[in-house]
Order: sequence, then C-alpha cells, then structure tokens
Amino acid sequence: MKTVTTQTIRNKKKNNEIITMLTAYDYPTAAILDEAGIDIILVGDSLGMVILGYENTTEVTIEDMLHHVKAVSRGSKHSLIVADLPFLTYHTGKYEAVRNAGRLVQEGKANAVKLEGGTEVIKQTKAIINAGIPVMGHIGLTPQSINQLGGYYIQGKSEEKAKKLLEDAMALEEAGAFAIVLECIPTELARLITEKVEIPTIGIGAGSDCDGQVLVTNDILNLYSNMVPKFVKQYANLQDEIMKATSNYIRDVEQKAFPSKEHVFHIKQDVIDSIYG
Ligand code: KIV
Ligand code: NA
Repeated sequence: MKTVTTQTIRNKKKNNEIITMLTAYDYPTAAILDEAGIDIILVGDSLGMVILGYENTTEVTIEDMLHHVKAVSRGSKHSLIVADLPFLTYHTGKYEAVRNAGRLVQEGKANAVKLEGGTEVIKQTKAIINAGIPVMGHIGLTPQSINQLGGYYIQGKSEEKAKKLLEDAMALEEAGAFAIVLECIPTELARLITEKVEIPTIGIGAGSDCDGQVLVTNDILNLYSNMVPKFVKQYANLQDEIMKATSNYIRDVEQKAFPSKEHVFHIKQDVIDSIYG
C-alpha cells in the first residue's frame, strides 16, 4: 500500500477516483482503518461527542485533540491523517491558528488540519498553509457554531445561503485548501460546488456527486446511541455486540463458567502443600 499524501488526494479528483475518509480517535481503530485501505483518517472534534461524552464539540480543547491525534498517528502507516482544529483555537487570529495547527503536526504527527468556515477563516487558512501545513476546509453544517445554528439542520437551502456556500468553497480553493468537507447540504448544491472547484469535495450528508465521502466511524458501527443522523448508513451494530459480550461475561463469571481450565496457570502441588504447612 502506498502512503497517501495531500497530492494523492488532489490527483484522485483529476483521475476521477473516489476519496474515502472515516474518523478515528484511537490506536486500534486507526490501525484497522489504515489496513483496510482508507485514504484519509480524520481525527475529528466529533471526538468530544462520540468518545468523551461532551454535549457538543465546543467543549473540545487542543489538549483533547493532541491526546487522540498522537494515538491515531501511532496506528496508521499509509492513510493521510487530518486533525480538526477545535473551537476557539483558530478564531482569535492568525498567530494562534498557526501555533495550534503546528502543535497538531509537531506533537500529534498529523499530516494536515481541518477547520470550519468559509470566507471568515481565509486569513487563518492562508497563514497555516504558509507555515507548510495543508488545510482541509469544512463548510455547510459546522457543528462548532451549534449555538448560532440552533441545531444540526441542513444548510444552504435558500438562494442566498447556497450562493454563500459556493463563495466559501471558491474562497477556500483560492486560499490554497487541498480539499473541502461539505456537511449536510442539498445534493444539488454539493454537485454544483464540486463542479465549480478544482479541489476535491468530501461529502457528509451531501449526496453522491462529491469527490469523496466521510462519516463518523462510531456512527457506521452504531457505537454512539445519542444521535444517528439521516445521512448515516450503519455497517455494523457494535452496541449490540458489546452488550451481548458483556452480558455473557457477567453470566459466566457469576455462574463460575469462567475462567475454565484453559485460562488458568499452575504450580507444583508440593509447593502449595509446603505453604499450607
Ligand atoms: O469531527 C468530525 O468528525 C467531522 C466530520 C463529520 C467531517 O468534522
Ligand atoms: Na469536526
């Protein structure tokens, strides 16, 4: 398997190849995704909700991210690792944005960072790219703005809002972003944006005309019961599997069916006899 770079991702669009991306937050999951051949592993700030039990992503800190980005980097050999810049780590200006993006690369060993927003974050996007760090954009539903959006709703349905999203995508391309996540927007708008920009679009709840697709791994595995969006397809039900395994373990332990002879260690009986005295 070849190592995936941001150049590989750009070239996939040129060659009409589909880009695959999933999230991971820990070593074993990253190792499995990598071995399965996923192009991009995203250490998303969805971490806060699906792993850490926060109410929304605004609670996630740069330290939270670093802790998990490090684990994912250790697990992945080939996939491109993109780490989310969490809430308030890039909004206050270029300096902080570069500093925090730099930490995700230097300490976390991420290959690129992702930040939410369009024209509002162009200044920071350019500064991070100037520091040699590739940037993935993210527009449409931007969960770090949940308090402004009022809920996880579809974005870009009116003409004005659709135009703004196209403008955002073009501004991100112009700023030098290597790809853009389109989250929860009408499929027709995602198609239009995908045709208008040369960099790849990676959709989540944005239909099949994007250049790639991303989902939250815990959602496709049913390992986060609080909220399953309409755009998620579930490929496994790990919640049921873990529930079954746990119940079986409890039953076995209580009934002394576990451990059985294949799980135990022995010493010579005379050693035990001499201790009993
Ligand atoms: O945090 C995340 O998992 C994301 C994806 C949903 C794109 O940003
Ligand atoms: Na995110």
